[in-house]
Amino acid sequence: MESSPFAGLVVSDGARESKINDIEKWAKQSVLVGRIQCMDLRQIPKLQIGDLESNIPIVQGGMGVGISLSGLASAVANEGGIGVISTAGIGMLEPDFNRNFKEANKRALRREIKKAREMTEGVIGINIMVALSDYYDLLQVALDESADVVFLGAGLPLKIPNTLLPNRSSKTVVKVVPIVSSARATKLIFQYWGRNYNHVPDAVVIEGPLAGGHLGFKKEQLNNPDYALEKILPEVISVLKPYEESFNKSIPVIVAGGVYTGADIRKFIQSGAQGVQMATRFVATHECDASIQFKEAYVRCKEDDLIIIDSPVGLPGRAIKSRFLEKITEGTKKLIKCPWKCLKTCDFKSAPYCICAALTNAKKGQLEKGFAFAGANAYRVDTIISVKKLIETLLIEYEMVAAIGARLET
Ligand SMILES: Cc1cc2nc3c(=O)[nH]c(=O)nc-3n(C[C@H](O)[C@H](O)[C@H](O)COP(=O)(O)O)c2cc1C
Repeated sequence: MESSPFAGLVVSDGARESKINDIEKWAKQSVLVGRIQCMDLRQIPKLQIGDLESNIPIVQGGMGVGISLSGLASAVANEGGIGVISTAGIGMLEPDFNRNFKEANKRALRREIKKAREMTEGVIGINIMVALSDYYDLLQVALDESADVVFLGAGLPLKIPNTLLPNRSSKTVVKVVPIVSSARATKLIFQYWGRNYNHVPDAVVIEGPLAGGHLGFKKEQLNNPDYALEKILPEVISVLKPYEESFNKSIPVIVAGGVYTGADIRKFIQSGAQGVQMATRFVATHECDASIQFKEAYVRCKEDDLIIIDSPVGLPGRAIKSRFLEKITEGTKKLIKCPWKCLKTCDFKSAPYCICAALTNAKKGQLEKGFAFAGANAYRVDTIISVKKLIETLLIEYEMVAAIGARLET
């Protein structure tokens, strides 16, 4: 029988890294064979966003074109995390999408929030890209359907409707969490809100350069250590400090991009984050709303299959290599008929393909007609498991690394 890595927990600094690796392997195996079913959560903190509490500090990152819908979001919420439905291209599978895309998006979002509410009593968030041309409409649906929290990314959420601001009649309003990639963007948002609304957002997600999908960095910044998540985190925390004082509230910081194990979660919590947002790992779960072919593309991919593309919406994006992308690089141009321009920044007349259609094809399993977005760690995914097992594994790793940390500190 293999021995538990709990043996010899007192380790030197030099041996710590390999001890953590042993723990990751052991925890994963133990959960898979049912050796461990649950564990007291003694160390892992809750995530508190104002009066909204999530039992574990894990937010499932929103994944567009139907990859995170009510199925995944409710499964994560049932395990105590924040489950997130993404709105980008959510109406793509509605029958009238081509004729009536705004209505199709609104209808699909409303339905997914209602379905999620039927499946969980946990915390449900909605991810809305500021760059979407129907951003305000989707925000309104999220409010009408009483989402617990909205995550606003891909652009700066400066101008917001009054309905997002607290009012005297209702104590609890939806929590608003911008997704940023720098201290500068954080400052712009907080300054603008402070001056114009006498109010500031409830938390911040920092999305670093290892994330999947569209990235808020220039290509050349992606491998520059000055833009690493570990570097941006303390910078954002110091931007937020004065706002926490003047608005008399704590503003938790959630980090995203490359967070893969319980040890990673622990590292960021120790460095001042209150939570993590993870997307790549949740793709390889039974409950993820994408097709099995999409999930298998994650299991199959190798490190050098993860590439940076120039998305037609004017941002770099991280994706898994595909024949479709190769053909685009070779200069193939697909004729696009776009009746509605879903992203404000998409120059569809000169774009070589429609990214929304390509991502939707991949989500449905037609990978030859598109490609999958994925985080830099997607090559580490080797199996598809349940959300429950994934979260158990992460929590066990967290607890074990915390235990090592405690021994090292004493
Ligand atoms: C397939 C996929 C789709 C994504 N779609 C969106 C999206 O619609 N909106 C958004 O703000 N972020 C999107 N993201 C980014 C994630 O929400 C998340 O912040 C990021 O991927 C975290 O890094 P990780 O994948 O390494 O965990 C997407 C990521 C992936 C992998």
